[in-house]
Amino acid sequence: MKSLIDTYTLNNGIKIPIVGFGTWQTPDGAIAKVAVKSALSSGYRHIDTAEMYGNEKSIGAAIKESGVSRNSLFITSKLSNSAHSYEKATAAIEKSLSDLQVSTLDLFLIHWPNPKMFRDTDWERHLQDTWRALEDAYTAGKLKAIGVSNFREHHFNILKETQTIKPMINQIRICPGDYNEELINYCRNEEILLEAYSPLGTGKIFTDKTMNEIAEKNNKTVAQVCLRWSLQHGFLPLPKSIHEDRIEENSHLFDFELSESDMDTIDSLEGIVGYVVDPDKAEF
Ligand SMILES: NC(=O)c1ccc[n+]([C@@H]2O[C@H](COP(=O)([O-])OP(=O)(O)OC[C@H]3O[C@@H](n4cnc5c(N)ncnc54)[C@H](OP(=O)(O)O)[C@@H]3O)[C@@H](O)[C@H]2O)c1
Repeated sequence: MKSLIDTYTLNNGIKIPIVGFGTWQTPDGAIAKVAVKSALSSGYRHIDTAEMYGNEKSIGAAIKESGVSRNSLFITSKLSNSAHSYEKATAAIEKSLSDLQVSTLDLFLIHWPNPKMFRDTDWERHLQDTWRALEDAYTAGKLKAIGVSNFREHHFNILKETQTIKPMINQIRICPGDYNEELINYCRNEEILLEAYSPLGTGKIFTDKTMNEIAEKNNKTVAQVCLRWSLQHGFLPLPKSIHEDRIEENSHLFDFELSESDMDTIDSLEGIVGYVVDPDKAEF
């Protein structure tokens, strides 16, 4: 683990850079474009977006304008919660490809397993049909890898009833104080790589006393300690920022190592950034 472009290997053999650049709540337009260009200048080669973030067009434009070659980049998008059907998911994949100005996506995820609008109308069948759309786009070569987000074991069991291709990724909230060990172990046993979303607790981690003490002791910032903790656990963190200096700061993760005792201390923190929403009860 030496740089942002080191890779993990997915269960289909595709390589994925070990840190991704997050873009949720990054406003569309100039802010998204500057943020993505800053990330590319700082050496990030993995960008995480989603149809529901509403910024795919700006991200696509920024990538084009940056001059960074497409084949050195790993681009992820995710399906809108309103598109849980075979036809809608197929159309949504085409729209993401078009908005991002690419002919293939490196990774496409089902964003949430059980959106509110399908909850009372056979959501399990909708989920299986949606996964089939991702499988077909993968087989057609439009998506190099496919996966899911916010899935728990019972959601994987629903896919298993009909899937012909197993998910390569589960993108879930993993941050000091909020990680689901049982789910993490399940995914690892299934050879599903874990992407850590909200690795800084959506900005809530910075006031925690213990994290600040560990950062000071290591001469690093809280963000760097948090991201390093994630990497030392073998997760793939997706830090988000719209500020150039923070984007750069969050990339300096390879000139130090957290001791076993620091790792244990961070592991033992509980609830310091709140807890993830239950995907079967989320209000969206
Ligand atoms: N699949 C899902 O359902 C899901 C859900 C949530 C997130 N995600 C993905 O994961 C990514 C990251 O999660 P997140 O957006 O929740 O947030 P995060 O990365 O945990 O934290 C981002 C927040 O921390 C601030 N920040 C970043 N670096 C900092 C630094 N070095 N010092 C001080 N403050 C810093 C940012 O502020 P500024 O931007 O103002 O700098 C922002 O407020 C998302 O952008 C998205 O790509 C996925």
